[in-house]
Amino acid sequence: MKEPGKIKLANIPTPLEEIKFEGKTFLIKRDDLTGTELSGNKVRKLEYLIYQALKEKAEVIFTCGGDQSNHARATAIAAAKAGIKTKLFLWGSDSKAAEGNLFLDKFFGSEISYLNRKNYQEVNEIMFEERDALLRKGKRVFVIPEGGSTTLGIWGYISFIRELQKQVDLKKLEGICTAAGSGGTAAGLLLGAALLNFDLKIYAVNVLYSKEEIFTKIIRLAEGCALDYKLRCRINENNLVILDGYSNEGYKNISGDKLKLIKRFAQASGILFDPAYTGKAFTAYHENFLKKNKGKKIIFLHTGGLFGVFGKKKKYLSVN
Ligand SMILES: Cc1ncc(COP(=O)(O)O)c(C=O)c1O
Repeated sequence: MKEPGKIKLANIPTPLEEIKFEGKTFLIKRDDLTGTELSGNKVRKLEYLIYQALKEKAEVIFTCGGDQSNHARATAIAAAKAGIKTKLFLWGSDSKAAEGNLFLDKFFGSEISYLNRKNYQEVNEIMFEERDALLRKGKRVFVIPEGGSTTLGIWGYISFIRELQKQVDLKKLEGICTAAGSGGTAAGLLLGAALLNFDLKIYAVNVLYSKEEIFTKIIRLAEGCALDYKLRCRINENNLVILDGYSNEGYKNISGDKLKLIKRFAQASGILFDPAYTGKAFTAYHENFLKKNKGKKIIFLHTGGLFGVFGKKKKYLSVN
C-alpha cells in the first residue's frame, strides 16, 4: 500500500480526552485542536489535497460550501499558506458584517462567488466549467469538491485510525461517532478501520443529506478510495450506521434543545460545539450512547467548527 504524499498542516496527534459530564464518563477525540485559524477535521484532508495542488503547480484552488463552511475557510487559509489563491463558491449571500468563517474567508483574501440554494445544487458543474474556461487560457486550477471529500482527501481519516491506535486499544472499542456532512470523514474512518482489520462501527450523524444519500456517499467514497489506491480490504457496510433525525431543523439552523445541551456541556467542560455539525452530532451521541453509559466504548469525534458559532451568536446567547 502506497500512501499518497502530504504536507504538514495539522497539529497532530490531537488529544484523546476522558471527560465526565452529568455523571457519565466518555472519550472525546479533540480534532477541534488540529490548529487555530486552521482547525477541525478539514485540515487532515487538506494535508493531502494541498500537496497535490502544489504538485500540479496550481495557481488557484476552487472549492465550495455554505457561507459558514469550515471547509472553505480551512482551504482558503491552507492555500494562503501554500502561496495559492482561492476562489470559493458559497451557498448564501454577501454581508458587510460577515461573521465567523465568512469573515475569515474574506480576510484571507479569497475571491467569493455567492450562489443561491438552487444554483448551489450544481456547484460542481459550475466549478468545473469555470476551471475548463480558465484552463483554455493557460491558468492552472485545482478543484476541491465539497468538504474535500475525494478519494485523496479521505486519507486524512484513514491515517487518523493509525493515530488513534496509539492512544487506545481499538480492540476494546465498539465505535466512533462523528458528524457527517459530505461524508469524507466517516468514509476515511470506515476504510481506515477496515485496512487495519478492526471491526469498528462508524456512527455518522447526517446533518446535510438524507440517511440514504449519505450512506451511499460514504460507502462509494470508501470503496472508490480502495479501488483508486489498490488497497486490499473488505468494507463491511454493516459497520456504517447513520444516526438520522438530528438535523430536522435544517443544516443552517439549530434547535433550542440542542443549544441547551451545547451550553450545559460547554459550561461543564470548557469545550464548545458548533451549530451545523458537532452540536447535532453530540446530541445524537448523548441520546444514543452517553445516557446509556457507553461513552468509554464509543468515542465522540469533535470535528471542530468553532468559527461557525460566531455566525449564530444571537441564538447561542438567547439560550437559558
Ligand atoms: C465542523 C465539521 N464537522 C464535521 C464535518 C463533516 O465532515 P465531512 O464533510 O467529512 O462529512 C464538517 C464538514 O464540513 C465540519 O466542518
